[in-house]
Amino acid sequence: MEHILVTGGTGFIGSHTVVELLRSGYDVTILDNLSNSEASVVDAIEQIAGRRPALIVADLLDAAAVNAAFDGAHFDGVIHFAGLKAVGESVQKPWWYYHNNLTGSLNLFDAMAKHGCKTIVFSSSATVYGPDNPSPYVETMSTSATNPYGWTKVMIERILTDYTAAHPDFCAVLLRYFNPIGAHPSGLLGDDPNGIPNNLMPYVARVAAGQLPKLTVFGDDYDTPDGTCLRDYLHVVDLAKGHLSALEYAKDHTGAEAFNLGTGNGISVLELINAFMKENHIDVPYVIGPRRDGDLPGFWANADKAKEVLGWTAKLDVNDMCRDAWTFIQTPKD
Ligand code: NAD
Ligand code: UFG
Repeated sequence: MEHILVTGGTGFIGSHTVVELLRSGYDVTILDNLSNSEASVVDAIEQIAGRRPALIVADLLDAAAVNAAFDGAHFDGVIHFAGLKAVGESVQKPWWYYHNNLTGSLNLFDAMAKHGCKTIVFSSSATVYGPDNPSPYVETMSTSATNPYGWTKVMIERILTDYTAAHPDFCAVLLRYFNPIGAHPSGLLGDDPNGIPNNLMPYVARVAAGQLPKLTVFGDDYDTPDGTCLRDYLHVVDLAKGHLSALEYAKDHTGAEAFNLGTGNGISVLELINAFMKENHIDVPYVIGPRRDGDLPGFWANADKAKEVLGWTAKLDVNDMCRDAWTFIQTPKD
């Protein structure tokens, strides 16, 4: 039995990953400041997995609290999800994003080093490929960013890469997520942002449920087959399972290694809306609006490395993603 510390484990991707860890026999402690999630997520996790993770409510910016978490338990590895993730907000509040994501990560890495914890799986993003690389994105491409959020991902990847170079017994697995959507099929866990959603799928689900009047499609004049942007959407449960593959990999590897976690397929905004309507037999009223600042026309993964090295591939399709997102929004919340 191994014990994993999951920062940000009550969040969207973290909670699904904790379920998979518990089901696979890992012990789990979550550390989260609940700035973008609820403590009740732990109850939902227990209901699904039949086991309860420990929860430490603490901020990564509080170095003493992070060290205290390591003093209180031996962790065999860390999965590091905790961070702020809204691209637009990061442009408005860059200092806050750099402070939270970078200082928080440095406090975590420092505590790991002090306590001899030598394995980390880090939540990176396809955004590190920047604006200029052609799709499909391959892990060997250069990294860059167009906003403070993206730069925090580039910088944390760099920090972990430099650290592993100086400490050859350390393993950092850098997982570059494409666009995770969907929800746990139980309807108990999903993407439930505070306020108006920024991301497409939670917005679509709220319009379908009548909680928002209509969706605005941001631009239909891109150089893509139907004029709307292409993304590589993957089911959050598939993504969660990718973290278990990364932990397995880390058991007999050292160094820093990046992996794309995506399906390898780009689908358009209109294709996603139509799939949602067809799968769930429900209307999603939408209008075409102007482009959103900073959006790239299309990007998707080359997912070969994760398949060949980690043995991971996405198994669920866009209909599963649409069905589970709809189940989640219809499930009553306490
Ligand atoms: P989320 O906001 O649902 O989860 C992040 C969690 O981190 C939240 O529960 C929040 O309370 C916690 N947190 C934030 N700052 C903290 C701090 N200083 N101390 C302790 N806890 C803190 O986000 P998510 O969608 O689950 O994303 C998880 C990770 O994956 C993030 O690092 C995000 O940047 C990355 N990522 C997400 C996406 C996506 O589309 N959702 C895509 C690529 C990468
Ligand atoms: N979109 C709309 N209307 C909306 C919301 C989104 O048309 O109301 C469109 C966007 O223009 C884009 C597509 O839907 O073409 C997807 O947008 P999202 O906001 O859901 O996702 P992004 O690709 O912009 O970004 C997401 C995360 C980033 C991460 C990136 C890659 O928000 O943090 O995926 O992983 F970096």
